[in-house]
Amino acid sequence: MSHEGPLAGLHVVIDAGPTYEDIDPVRFLGNRSSGKMGFAIAAAAVAAGAEVTLIAGPVALATPAGVARRIDVRSALQMRDAVLQAVEGADIFIATAAVADWRVAEYSSRKIKKGPSGAPVLELVENPDILAEVAARDPRPFVVGFAAETDHVLENGRKKLERKKLDMLAANHVGENVGIGSDDNALDLIWPGGGESLPRAAKPELAKTLVARIAARYRAQARA
Ligand code: PMT
Repeated sequence: MSHEGPLAGLHVVIDAGPTYEDIDPVRFLGNRSSGKMGFAIAAAAVAAGAEVTLIAGPVALATPAGVARRIDVRSALQMRDAVLQAVEGADIFIATAAVADWRVAEYSSRKIKKGPSGAPVLELVENPDILAEVAARDPRPFVVGFAAETDHVLENGRKKLERKKLDMLAANHVGENVGIGSDDNALDLIWPGGGESLPRAAKPELAKTLVARIAARYRAQARA
């Protein structure tokens, strides 16, 4: 933690990457998140003076220099446990992870075999919403959510901001060569009573602007 920068003296917890929900010892449900957005935000938060805890799903990325602690997890349930522990007393939580919405109801400890009865039918159960759980805490950190949408990005983002009672939401479009899995992203930031579009840029550059906006909103809210 540095003594200088807009996040100096603050503990920031960031979750990043996908979660993998195991079906059997060889198969899982996953998604295309690379972790690049979350890791870029972690680097930008360190540069802004924060003490950073980074909770990472299964990604192939090196820990950004200066991150105080990195916790690697695989599933949504493991990510939930790690986040709930890390946000205890933290100042800011940034949820960039693409957490699987569902996991299989029953994990098979043996490899599911092909057979004459045809394809298996997987029963799914909903995973807990980590972001909503953190936002419902009292006291709670300043909570920044993300939303990955294929359509009606702003409209759906605004609904998520209100439903989950977030302090800020960064909505991104899921499309060709931008957003999930890509090197670039574009974000529509919204907060109660305001918003700003951050145009397409490389994730490290975008992360610096996002962190500056989060710091400004955090300070404004702390003064209010
Ligand atoms: O990792 P990259 O390849 O760099 O891609 C970055 C990204 C596209 C994954 C990232 O920018 C992003 O949008 N992350 C959120 C993706 C997502 O799952 O959005 P959602 O609309 O399904 O979820 C909304 C919010 O709730 C997110 O902050 C998510 O972390 C959180 N959530 C969702 C489900 C759940 N069970 N628990 C959660 O905490």
